Amino acid sequence: MEQKLLAIQNKALEEINAAVDLDMLNDIRVHFLGKKGELTSVLRSMASLDPSERPRIGQVANIVRDRIEEQLNQQINTLRERITKQQLAAEKLDITMPGTVFELGRLHPITLVTRQIEDIFLGLGFNIVEGPEVELDYYNFEALNLPKDHPARDMQDTFFISPEVLLRTHTSPVQVRTMEKMAPALPVKIIAPGKVYRRDDDATHSPMFHQIEGLAIDSKITMADLRGVLKIFAEQMFGIDTKTRFRPSYFPFTEPSAEVDISCVICGGKGCRTCSYSGWLEILGCGMVHPKVLEMSGYSSQDASGFAFGMGVERIAMLKYRIDDLRVLFDNDKRFLDQF
Ligand code: PHE
Repeated sequence: MEQKLLAIQNKALEEINAAVDLDMLNDIRVHFLGKKGELTSVLRSMASLDPSERPRIGQVANIVRDRIEEQLNQQINTLRERITKQQLAAEKLDITMPGTVFELGRLHPITLVTRQIEDIFLGLGFNIVEGPEVELDYYNFEALNLPKDHPARDMQDTFFISPEVLLRTHTSPVQVRTMEKMAPALPVKIIAPGKVYRRDDDATHSPMFHQIEGLAIDSKITMADLRGVLKIFAEQMFGIDTKTRFRPSYFPFTEPSAEVDISCVICGGKGCRTCSYSGWLEILGCGMVHPKVLEMSGYSSQDASGFAFGMGVERIAMLKYRIDDLRVLFDNDKRFLDQF
């Protein structure tokens, strides 16, 4: 009997030590110490023993039970500890790891400058209108006093879709479309931003670029109004100390016509490489709306007069942000765009 008990003990201890999880230990407990367990059934058979043997065997049985229990508990603790350690290792947080960065988009410098220009003119009482990029020859040229064989068409060679349909070379056709729609109502005060197209491609010219047109028509508009509006625009856009000057120029749709320069944004007028040592930078073309243009669009040149101007948004952006190659505005290199 004693041999049997010791054999049970050895078998139990061996199994306990080999157990790798808590379920296995539980099965072992049931198998040896449970109601129908091996040890229990041996103890039950004690009744058949010689009464003089019973106390000793009883003692051995108790020791065996205690040893098995003790070993079970010890193994449970060992396994629990190991599981906790594994869990901690698995759940470890590396707080030095870089987080997920959510990148926000931003506005393109052309959009930023367009909005700034719009804001300035909205503040001066102008409304924003738009016109088509695919335009009729009539609006792009003819109604602007540029008949088919006019030599000034050369400066604005463009992409023709058919002899009468083209990609607009400037935003000036929006002047005509607006006047046609509104005539003879006064006043007219609009700006027209948008894309324009020309057969040009180098460091300062792109086949597609942006312009903002301005048009003001009323009963008593003079060149002094034009001068004042553009002075305010230049001061708000480039700083209050910015000087403006008008240089005589020629456009078939304005008379008189002028080009407007601002004092150089780099040297302030002293002369530097950017302004070719002249102290001045050209920013736009303008003039008093030609009487023929007024008449063709439905206004009487006796009762109405007005001014118009057109500026290149890329040129303004280049001066404002000191960019010396126009093409970076169209490359869409993120390293460039991230700066705005
Ligand atoms: N449309 C002219 C250009 O593209 C600019 C301009 C607009 C000049 C309005 C005078 C009046 O060059």
